[in-house]
Amino acid sequence: MDTLARISNNTPISCIHTFRSQSPHFPTSLAIFRVGRGSLTPIRASTTSTERGEVVLPPQREDDKQLQKGIAEFYDESSSIWENIWGDHMHHGFYDPDSTVSVSDHRAAQIRMIEESLRFASISEERTKWPKRIVDVGCGIGGSSRYLAEKFGATGVGITLSPVQAQRANALAAAQGLAHKVSFEVADALQQPFPDGQFDLVWSMESGEHMPDKTKFVGELARVAAPGGTIIIVTWCHRDLGPEEQSLQPWEQDLLKKICDAYYLPAWCSAADYIKLLRSLSLQDIKSEDWSRFVAPFWPAVIRSALTWKGLTSLLSSGQKTIKGALAMPLMIEGYKKGLIKFAIITCRKPE
Ligand SMILES: C[S@@+](CC[C@H](N)C(=O)[O-])C[C@H]1O[C@@H](n2cnc3c(N)ncnc32)[C@H](O)[C@@H]1O
Repeated sequence: MDTLARISNNTPISCIHTFRSQSPHFPTSLAIFRVGRGSLTPIRASTTSTERGEVVLPPQREDDKQLQKGIAEFYDESSSIWENIWGDHMHHGFYDPDSTVSVSDHRAAQIRMIEESLRFASISEERTKWPKRIVDVGCGIGGSSRYLAEKFGATGVGITLSPVQAQRANALAAAQGLAHKVSFEVADALQQPFPDGQFDLVWSMESGEHMPDKTKFVGELARVAAPGGTIIIVTWCHRDLGPEEQSLQPWEQDLLKKICDAYYLPAWCSAADYIKLLRSLSLQDIKSEDWSRFVAPFWPAVIRSALTWKGLTSLLSSGQKTIKGALAMPLMIEGYKKGLIKFAIITCRKPE
């Protein structure tokens, strides 16, 4: 992991790094990355036992590589500022609709988001049915993984594109005495370095919106889920299209494009699109709900925190990508208010 965290812009393009997973589940898993000009592109990832322990995956499209590079750099640059102001959960909070909330309520609201997601997915309260192995796909600095590992006494592994996040997530796990329970790696959600059928709980909290290929994304979530395992996707979607509509309105497309540019997002899809994908994989108990009304206080609160002295000084000392992201925050509020952006939870179960 150290090797990956030390990638610099001067690294020659032909340089290939290998590293061994720190995961308690997959001590032997091996990922291979091509490193160049500050980007990190997994070219192969495998835990199967071919001659060199590798599976050759199809090459990535150039656009997708650029997107991944942007995502990695965005989170490398902005994660410590977020953590200083908002703590280790990099997702919306769940609030009572129309409530007035103070800054101190936000961490509780982020924890509530995790709890409400588990409840919606019908994760049993009964100890014998708790998930034992969890994957956190798009883990940020590991807030969900550490919370879930403690709650359920489970082991977990988180993946992110950002080397800075993976390193920080591991450091926080060590500081909280959880290093034997959870670990974090740089890996691509679309080519996960895990064997099939490993995880009782597959958790994706606000990472799906970054995935350029939703079919591959959902396919990987289903692949790594254990038989009977639960998949939870909490993600930004655009509104469902009406029966007569072929696409969003031009103004809606324009607004989403500006948001995509600021947050390194590919084309959006609707919750209905996710449901279609899950059905096509014969997953069971597929459920979805629009939680937009429960997250409404979130972006105004983020803007307020950015406008404090601490927020402003942190932003000004950050990089261009973080500032661009901050300037785009009102667009998210506009998208929600106009009914274009939906905060969706989608859950299902892999057949036994
Ligand atoms: C908004 S953050 C959410 C972090 C975390 N789930 C949380 O709730 O604190 C989005 C995360 O998705 C990750 N991500 C985006 N695309 C990814 C990909 N293709 N593979 C792995 N992680 C990805 C980013 O690196 C980042 O950690």
